Amino acid sequence: MFQLHGTRAIVTGSGRGIGRAVALALARAGADVAVNYRMNKEAASQVAREVESFGGKALLFQADVSFPDQACDLIRTVVEAWGGVDVLVNNVGLQSRASLEATDDALWGKVLASNLTAPFICAREAARHMVHQGHGRIVNMTSLGGEHVTPGYVAFTAAKGGANLLTKALAVELGPKGITVNAVAPGSIETEPMQEVLGDPDYRRYLLARTPMSRIGQPEDVAAAVLFFCSEEARWITGQTLVVDGGLRASSGYVSAQTGQRIKLPPSMTGADG
Ligand SMILES: NC(=O)c1ccc[n+]([C@@H]2O[C@H](COP(=O)([O-])OP(=O)(O)OC[C@H]3O[C@@H](n4cnc5c(N)ncnc54)[C@H](OP(=O)(O)O)[C@@H]3O)[C@@H](O)[C@H]2O)c1
Repeated sequence: MFQLHGTRAIVTGSGRGIGRAVALALARAGADVAVNYRMNKEAASQVAREVESFGGKALLFQADVSFPDQACDLIRTVVEAWGGVDVLVNNVGLQSRASLEATDDALWGKVLASNLTAPFICAREAARHMVHQGHGRIVNMTSLGGEHVTPGYVAFTAAKGGANLLTKALAVELGPKGITVNAVAPGSIETEPMQEVLGDPDYRRYLLARTPMSRIGQPEDVAAAVLFFCSEEARWITGQTLVVDGGLRASSGYVSAQTGQRIKLPPSMTGADG
C-alpha cells in the first residue's frame, strides 16, 4: 500500500523485536534499510538478508547508540555510503522496571541514554542532512508508559515521556524544513524484554481482559504504524504520538468481557514484586 522506493532508512536496534519488524516493513515497501544492532550480529545479519530479499539495499552497522559518539558514527556512515538519509526510526530504548528506591544514578543514566539521549543525538545528526535535502521523516519509538504511569517504572516513564515531548519539539523546529517527526507508543508487545512480564499468567489475563482487541500486540502491529508515518501519505502529520495498544488505553474497566470476572491488578503492575 505505502511505497518507499528510493528511500534510505535507518532503524536503530533492528536486529530483533519491534525494530526488526520495522526494518522489514520498510524494506517490503521498497526502502533501503540500515540495520543497526548492539551485540547480536547473527540476528541483525539475518534481518539484512531479509531486507535484500525484498530488492532493497541493506547496510549492517554495529553501534551502541546510547553512546553519543557511536550514534553519530551510525548516521555518518550511512550518509557516506548512501549519499543521504530520508527516514530515521529511533527504535532503541532500554525497558527497565525499577521503583524510585531501586533506581540508582547508574540505572537512571542508562535508561535516559538509550530512551532519550540516543533519539536526540540521532535526530540531530540525521536532521542536518534532511534539512539539506529538504525532506525527511523521523519516528521515535516511545511507549504507552510514557503517557500513562505504570507503577514501578520510574526512569523508563520519565525517559519515554521526555521522548514524546522531544518529538513535539523537533516537529515544531523541523516542520518548516519539510521534515515530519512523530512518535509511536506501543502498549505491551510480545518481544524478548516483555517475556517475563507477559509470562505472568495474572498479568496476561489482566492485559487481555482490558484490551478491546482481545490479543497481545505483535511487533508487526507497531511496524505498520511506523510505516504509515514514513510514507508520503503522512506528509501533513507531525508532532503526534500514536498509541498502538489494541485499545488498552481507551478501556478503564477491570472486568473481563469474556468471563465477566473482575481482574485483580497483578504484582507486576504494582511493582509489589520488586
Ligand atoms: N516490547 C514492548 O512491549 C514495548 C512497549 C513499549 C515500548 N517499547 C519500545 O520499543 C522499542 C523496541 O523494544 P523491543 O521490545 O523490540 O526490544 P528488543 O526486542 O530488546 O530489541 C532490541 C533490539 O535493539 C538493539 N539494541 C538494544 N540496545 C541497543 C543500543 N543501545 N544500541 C543499538 N542497538 C540496541 C538490540 O541489539 P542486539 O540484538 O545486538 O542486542 C536488538 O536488535 C524500545 O524503545 C522499547 O522501549 C516496547
